Amino acid sequence: MPRRIILDCDPGIDDSVALSMALFNKAFDVVAITAVEGNVPAEMATINVQTVIEQLDPPRLPRLGAATANDNADYRDACFIHGGDGLGEAGFVTADHHHRHLSEKIICDEVRAAPGEIDIVCLGPLTNVARAIQRDPQFIENVSQIVMMGGSFSGIGNITQTAEFNIHSDPESAREVLHAPVKKVLIPLDITSQVQFSLSFIEQIPDESKPIGAFLRQVVPYLFRSYHQQLGLETVQIHDAIALLQLLEPELFELEPMAVDVEVKGELTRGMTVFEKRRGKNVPHNVEVARLVDVSAARQAVLKYLNA
Ligand code: BDR
Ligand code: CA
Repeated sequence: MPRRIILDCDPGIDDSVALSMALFNKAFDVVAITAVEGNVPAEMATINVQTVIEQLDPPRLPRLGAATANDNADYRDACFIHGGDGLGEAGFVTADHHHRHLSEKIICDEVRAAPGEIDIVCLGPLTNVARAIQRDPQFIENVSQIVMMGGSFSGIGNITQTAEFNIHSDPESAREVLHAPVKKVLIPLDITSQVQFSLSFIEQIPDESKPIGAFLRQVVPYLFRSYHQQLGLETVQIHDAIALLQLLEPELFELEPMAVDVEVKGELTRGMTVFEKRRGKNVPHNVEVARLVDVSAARQAVLKYLNA
């Protein structure tokens, strides 16, 4: 039986790689792809989900959800990494995306229709899931689990000194989701950033004759340029693809139950994930955190799923 999932995302180049891995994978039944404001503002995230679907033309069409702006005054996009349009400025032209249901409505509807069966994979800020919790009091008890890319165990951020991008984009929502009574798996930046891809990645993805190759070959080169120009790196990190792998190849990760909270106030620390690391504290665990990853197997697995 394929695993039924909702992909909640903010494409985004690494989101696009994760979607490419998921949409052709027989292990998954992708019931919906819901856009969230993050790497790009809400309207663009909604367009980009549509673009990815049009470019990839997967065998089964998931429902698509529209993003709306989050309420975070500190929100800033990540176009400096993903390009002004979030998809490497490749110039995609995308059909009408209006009249979509809101992402949070689609998430609630799909979970209500299949109680206990749906995993939600969050590859962007946690705005939509928090809104789903607020919208429907029964929602969370019917979710199978939530797998999230976000946070930083070490406390070293990538959008501020202390905060990881997805959590920083909407700290209040992240806090609500991390405290929600449901199984949650967190794949933090410390794990995803260990799996680095060199330029040879582009030669190893499918060629232009396949939709995945034709699409990713137009967007991924931008990531190498921005990592070089903005971060001084010759390799890239494909965070969201690594988070998705936790569902496909859980044995590549070592998880540890932990207590985590989100700082929502600090001047220097807003959006920071704060883990209980002290000994002897009897704080209830609220999340399973990936603490180790088999780096070389994870890199190979990403390529395996893109080439399947
Ligand atoms: C996360 O932030 C975004 O820029 C990426 O798409 C990923 O989800 C990494 O911190
Ligand atoms: Ca993302």
